[in-house]
Amino acid sequence: MVTLTTQEKAMLDGAQGPAVARAMALLVRYAEALGAEDFVETNNVAGVPGSASPWMKEYYAADGGDYRAVFSRFDLDSDDVVDVPRMNAFSCHLQGGMDPELWREQGMTEAANANFRSDEAEVAAHGIQLLKTCTPYLAGNVPVMGEHCAWMESSAVVFCNSVVGGRTNCEGRESTSAAMLAKRIPNWGFHRDAYRLGQHAIDVQVPVDDVFDWGLLGYFTGAAVEDTIPVLSGAIANPSLIRHKHFGAAAASSGGVEMYHMVGITPEARDLETAFGGAPRGERFIYDAKARRRTWETLNSVGQSTAVDFVMLGCPHYSIEQIAEAAHLIEGRRVHANCALWIFTSRAVKAVADAGGHTATLRAAGALLMTDTCSAISQAIPPGTRVAAFDSAKQTHYLPAMMGIEGWFGTTAECIDAACTGVWRGDLA
Ligand code: F3S
Repeated sequence: MVTLTTQEKAMLDGAQGPAVARAMALLVRYAEALGAEDFVETNNVAGVPGSASPWMKEYYAADGGDYRAVFSRFDLDSDDVVDVPRMNAFSCHLQGGMDPELWREQGMTEAANANFRSDEAEVAAHGIQLLKTCTPYLAGNVPVMGEHCAWMESSAVVFCNSVVGGRTNCEGRESTSAAMLAKRIPNWGFHRDAYRLGQHAIDVQVPVDDVFDWGLLGYFTGAAVEDTIPVLSGAIANPSLIRHKHFGAAAASSGGVEMYHMVGITPEARDLETAFGGAPRGERFIYDAKARRRTWETLNSVGQSTAVDFVMLGCPHYSIEQIAEAAHLIEGRRVHANCALWIFTSRAVKAVADAGGHTATLRAAGALLMTDTCSAISQAIPPGTRVAAFDSAKQTHYLPAMMGIEGWFGTTAECIDAACTGVWRGDLA
């Protein structure tokens, strides 16, 4: 049974209006289902509040079919439709369904774009920041150590818990939308110290040097530990933020890793003892040259033909450093006539890429820098795509299976080369 504070009881009784009362009621049901005994306060929520495709608005047509109807009936699971006020918590919109400018290139219709624009106006009017990215930490939302957050998006969640020591479970649309109004989330899972301790060891015995290798190690780690907390030690030099981004996203896709420790690197793993706390240690997995090759072969098992017609970069959304690298790699070359190169990032990072001339360099080479979404989320790929290439283990894991295409996983340089030649020549060094 969840215990409520006086303020939480008042919210539940409607002191802050009907929408907050519905939000609190949903969160109480959620807390009880989890077995949580109380709530933590949060002022950092990232979700997809009230977003609705046309079919969803049609589904709620009898309730008015607007943002208010979708937010009440779907997000808050309310029996009736209530007015939705400005959000009370600092709230961010994660990735969405299309690029605001290049939506035609993504194969979206005028009607879908009109729906996207009206949704976005509602989101902004409700005080939700339009980050439109799976990397909020690269676009203005960086939690601090110990901060209670309520985030969706597996790659963002694992980054928040592991790299900066923020605290979030992998939330859903309903819980994040309710948390935006009530500023509460059940005190359960990663919000509690006891659930943040390491469970299995990963002994890294080969050097892990670049983004590609961190993606491979992440994919190996997720497959090994599934949805538990790995503790990595050994040949791991201090990874950059970008390497953490690719490691965590890969571990969250091959397994369900929501938090990891790297001994001497991540903030809750000063040493092996701290990382495991007093928790019993589970299995020890060895990452050596053989494991590295096996992981690479698994990722590349969805590639048969070397004739590549689509290269997709930016999963998770590219940082400015990665965009600058891609622009540098392609400068003076051109995307092959039989191929397309799409790179995904956030609006905030694209603004910097525009200012630095990287967008223009990519455009001159025939590549497109897109924001807000990605091929997996929007299910948008160039027409006729049969074989794609990625520098992201996560996108390699998902997109070929979702779209029924072949896929290759390699370095950023191998991907740019494939985009410019139309041929996959990647190999494991
Ligand atoms: Fe982001 Fe899409 Fe990858 S939302 S983490 S780029 S699957």
